[in-house]
Amino acid sequence: VSIALVLPSAGSGRRLDAGRPKALVEVAGVPIIRRTIERFASLAGLVELVGVAPPGAVLEFNEALVGLELRGCEIRVVAGGESRQDSVRAGLAALTKDAEIVCVHDAARPLVGKETIDAVIEAARLSGAATAASRPADSVREDDGEGLTRPLDRERLWLVETPQAFAAELLRQAHARARATGLQATDDASLVDSCGHPVVIVDSAGGNIKVTRPEDLDLVEAILAKEP
Ligand code: CTP
Ligand code: MG
Repeated sequence: VSIALVLPSAGSGRRLDAGRPKALVEVAGVPIIRRTIERFASLAGLVELVGVAPPGAVLEFNEALVGLELRGCEIRVVAGGESRQDSVRAGLAALTKDAEIVCVHDAARPLVGKETIDAVIEAARLSGAATAASRPADSVREDDGEGLTRPLDRERLWLVETPQAFAAELLRQAHARARATGLQATDDASLVDSCGHPVVIVDSAGGNIKVTRPEDLDLVEAILAKEP
């Protein structure tokens, strides 16, 4: 199958507070987005890749990706929007190759495993929609908004991650519908779900961390140092 990869990276990185876009922050000398893209380097069928940058940082993103070559894959950077959903929509609009599968992956998850990527793509190929996810390590309670909380069964909960992958047309429809109805969601699987299309879960088995706070940079560096 042909695959397009959209990398939403247009957030402000407020919690990381690095004074620059999160995806450009370096871990052991390499920008996070570059590390993330390298995880997809051996993905068969990848025909194009669109990085979605904060509007003022497109040039800087292009600089961070200089010399990066993925066999048969075109690499482009476009400007994102106010919300992650806006940014993914901008990335979708910039695709030109008519790939059958669109994979969306947060640039902020540079440790994603190859097995997880392959399993998400394969599940999307078979069923139309899939996401990586993992089980919570902590116990979880739900707030009823009126000062009371109740415990949830964590064995039935999934923490939703990326990569997420979809039949291209389904994802486009889901974004168009969300726009028309005003639906806002923090991930693409939620949009596809709201169209009545089930989303297959692929257990990433943890480790697919999203760089969010400063201490996550040290964690990612330490984990990379242990990789073979
Ligand atoms: N994202 C995006 N466009 C936005 C907001 C978020 O492309 N308007 C992307 C981020 O760049 C990131 C992913 O969505 O790769 C997940 O978001 P998050 O981890 O929350 O990153 P930020 O929004 O940048 O961080 P913060 O919430 O701390 O400001
Ligand atoms: Mg955010």
